[in-house]
Amino acid sequence: MTDPIPFTPLQPAQTPFTMLRCPNMYAIASGKGGVGKTWFSITLCHTLAKAGKRVLLFDGDLGLANVDIQLGLTPERDIAHVTEGQISLAEAVTRYEEGNFDILAGRSGSGNLATLPQQKLTDLRSALIELAKNYDYVFVDLGAGIDRAVRQMAGPAAATYVVLTDEPTSLTDAYAYIKLSRAANPSATLRVVVNMASTALEGEKTFATINKASEIFLQYQPELAGIVRRDTKVRDAIRAQTPLLVRSPLCEAASDVEIIAKKLLTST
Ligand SMILES: Nc1ncnc2c1ncn2[C@@H]1O[C@H](COP(=O)(O)OP(=O)(O)O)[C@@H](O)[C@H]1O
Ligand SMILES: [Mg+2]
Repeated sequence: MTDPIPFTPLQPAQTPFTMLRCPNMYAIASGKGGVGKTWFSITLCHTLAKAGKRVLLFDGDLGLANVDIQLGLTPERDIAHVTEGQISLAEAVTRYEEGNFDILAGRSGSGNLATLPQQKLTDLRSALIELAKNYDYVFVDLGAGIDRAVRQMAGPAAATYVVLTDEPTSLTDAYAYIKLSRAANPSATLRVVVNMASTALEGEKTFATINKASEIFLQYQPELAGIVRRDTKVRDAIRAQTPLLVRSPLCEAASDVEIIAKKLLTST
């Protein structure tokens, strides 16, 4: 067995970024796109909001604006207004009334985290850490990619949920994300969410694969946050631009996310 991602850019930890900590911030990453990150972020936020928590979801996939599309919202203010200097981050918050949580929306075509000048990225992150004081939980849907800007945005998070599927490309990208995160910050906490698993057992096998590679090559074992089964209700809800917990609150995927949310609630 050889390391699937042998190249590691061994820059020292980027000090100003790794020193910042935000104990109620959680990032959602994956490397590969299309594995269910945005849907999972929304459903986790929704579940925690239903449990009475104050929750904010930041759409870090800035230029694809997926969060508001999946929720069927058309926010008047978004993160692009903030990076353009027109409004503050707090002013960009949109209430998702039905779900009882707040979002910070992206804007389609506005570029991504990696295209933001470094200072704007740093300012955005500092503003988010400040805003996090008003919430119990803040989640950052990082969008696809493993580049430094994406990882910098996740830097202050208490933990990062790495969403993956059993596809080799997803596993490789998720492993790369874990490897680069740990290289930049050796104390980073990574939690794996196996999504679109055909069964719980298959999901456990997928977790074992990434866990083993990580243990052998990184001497690190990520936690298993949970397994979410493949469920046609997820696709149906996204097509209808209606959150799963509104459309099919009792379906299998919803109950799988609920287990992950409960774990988080009992650990914090
Ligand atoms: N548990 C699941 N069961 C079935 N389909 C899923 C599940 N999770 C995600 N999907 C499908 O994957 C697609 C991509 O989801 P999305 O949240 O947009 O991914 P990402 O944000 O990682 O790009 C969705 O449109 C949905 O059809
Ligand atoms: Mg997405």
